Amino acid sequence: MKLSAVILAAGQGTRMKSSLPKVLHPLLGKPMAWYALQATRQVIQSTPVMIVGYGAEQVQQVMGSQAEYALQEPQLGTGHAVLQAEPVLRGSCELVLVTYADMPLLTAETLSRLADLAESHDGPVTMLTVTAPDARGFGRILRDKSGTVSAIIEEAQATPEQLDIHELNPGVYCFRAGWLWDALKRIPLSPKGEYYLTDLVGMAVVEGHAIRSIDVADPDEVIGINTRLHLAQAGALLQQRINRQWMLAGVSMVDPSSTYIEPEVTLGADTTLWPGTYLRGDTHIGSGCVIGPNTIVQDTRVGDHCTLLASVLEGALVEDHVDMGPYCHLRQGAHLAHGVHMGNFGEVKNSTLGPGAKMGHFSYLGDATVGAEANIGAGTITCNFDGTQKHETVIGEGAFIGSDTMLVAPVKVGEGARTGAGAVVTRDIPPHTLAVGVPARVIRELKK
Ligand code: UD1
Ligand code: CA
Repeated sequence: MKLSAVILAAGQGTRMKSSLPKVLHPLLGKPMAWYALQATRQVIQSTPVMIVGYGAEQVQQVMGSQAEYALQEPQLGTGHAVLQAEPVLRGSCELVLVTYADMPLLTAETLSRLADLAESHDGPVTMLTVTAPDARGFGRILRDKSGTVSAIIEEAQATPEQLDIHELNPGVYCFRAGWLWDALKRIPLSPKGEYYLTDLVGMAVVEGHAIRSIDVADPDEVIGINTRLHLAQAGALLQQRINRQWMLAGVSMVDPSSTYIEPEVTLGADTTLWPGTYLRGDTHIGSGCVIGPNTIVQDTRVGDHCTLLASVLEGALVEDHVDMGPYCHLRQGAHLAHGVHMGNFGEVKNSTLGPGAKMGHFSYLGDATVGAEANIGAGTITCNFDGTQKHETVIGEGAFIGSDTMLVAPVKVGEGARTGAGAVVTRDIPPHTLAVGVPARVIRELKK
C-alpha cells in the first residue's frame, strides 16, 4: 500500500527559550528534525511532508530537499497541522504516517512496524502507545472492557483517576488516507481553541472502527523535546545508541560517555577511541587506528593503522600508517600520505606530505607539496602569504629542511637538497645541493 508521511514541526518551542526554531537545535551535529526525517525516509518511498510554521523559512532552508513543506499559519493544533498536508498528499497515497520533528529517538523499525500493522487491518487509525512511569504531559490512553483503545484524553482534561493511567499517547499514528482528510475537518474546536489530532481516535471508535495499537517497548524512543534539558537527555541517548552500535561492530571505547560520534561517521574494526574523542560530519576512519585522547576529527578520511593523539583535523585526508600528535592541526586540504610522521605542534593546510615524510616539531606548512621521505626540521615555516596572495612551496623527495628554515614562497627545494639551520630560502634550491644563511645561498653540491 502506498505510504506517505507527515512530520509536524510548526510549533515554536517556547520552552527552549531560543531564537532558533526548536526543531533546528543540534543533536550530535545534526538539526533535531534530521533524525525524524531519516527514520521516516527509511520507511516510506516518497518524500515526507514537513508542516512548518514558526521559523518556517529557516527550517526549510536548513532541511532543504529532504522534505516537502506545507505551511501552517496560524498554528491551531495538531489536527489542524496534519490537515495542511492534504493539498500535497490527497489522492497520492493510501496510508499516512504522522510523526514529530521533535521526537529524534523514534526508530525506523518502530515506524515500520506501525505501518505494517496499519496495512494488515482495515480500520482507519493505527497508533503507538507506550507505558512509562513518568507521563511527561502525554495524553492518556483509555481502553474499553475488551481492551481496545477507546479514546485519548489530554492531560489538561483528565480526571484524577485518568491521570493515574500510565499507558500514554506518543502521538504517532498511521491513518487510512481515504478516511483521514475528511475526518480532520470534522474535529471539534477544543476549549483551548485548538483542533486536537487525538480526537480522531474517539471519532473512529464512535463510527464503529476498531483502533489497533503497538506498544513501544523502550519509552526513550518517544521522548519529545520541549526544553534544553530534554535536548541534553536525548543527545546522551543518541550518543549511547551510536556508540553501542560501533562497539558491537568492533570499535573499542575506553570511556563511551566521553566519546562522541556523529551519525554519518564510519569506523573500521579494531580501532580504539580514547576519552575526549569527537568524530564529526563526513568523517570515515579505518581499522586498527588509535584516536585520542582529546582529538577532534571533522569531515576527514583516515586510513588504517593511524595514531591521532590530542589533535584537531578538519577537511583532511590521512592515508594508512600515519602517526601524529600530540597537538597537531590539519586544516582544509591537508593530505598526509602513507607512513607520514607528524610530531608535536605541527599545522598543515592545503598541503600534501608524500609517503614517509617527517615533520617532527613546531612547523607550519601551507600550500606546500612535500616529496616522499623528506624531513621537515623543527620550526620550519612556509611563508606562504605575502600579505595579499598565497604562494606555493615545493619540497623534493628526500630533501632535508634544517631546523628553523623559513621557506619564502613561491619557492622550490630540489630533491635530496638540504638547508642549514635558520636558513631563509627566497630562491629555488637545486637538487642535491646545500643552501645556508639569510638569504640562503648554495654553498656546495651533495652526493646523490
Ligand atoms: C500531543 C498530543 C498528546 C501526546 C503528545 C506527545 C494532541 C492534541 N496531543 O500533545 O496526546 O501525548 O503530543 O508528544 O495532539 N504542532 C504543530 N502545529 C500545531 C501544534 C503542534 O506543528 O498547531 C507540532 C509541534 O511543533 C510539536 C507537535 O506538533 O512538535 C506536538 O505539539 P504539542 O503542542 O507539543 O502537543 P502536546 O501538547 O505535546
Ligand atoms: Ca509536546
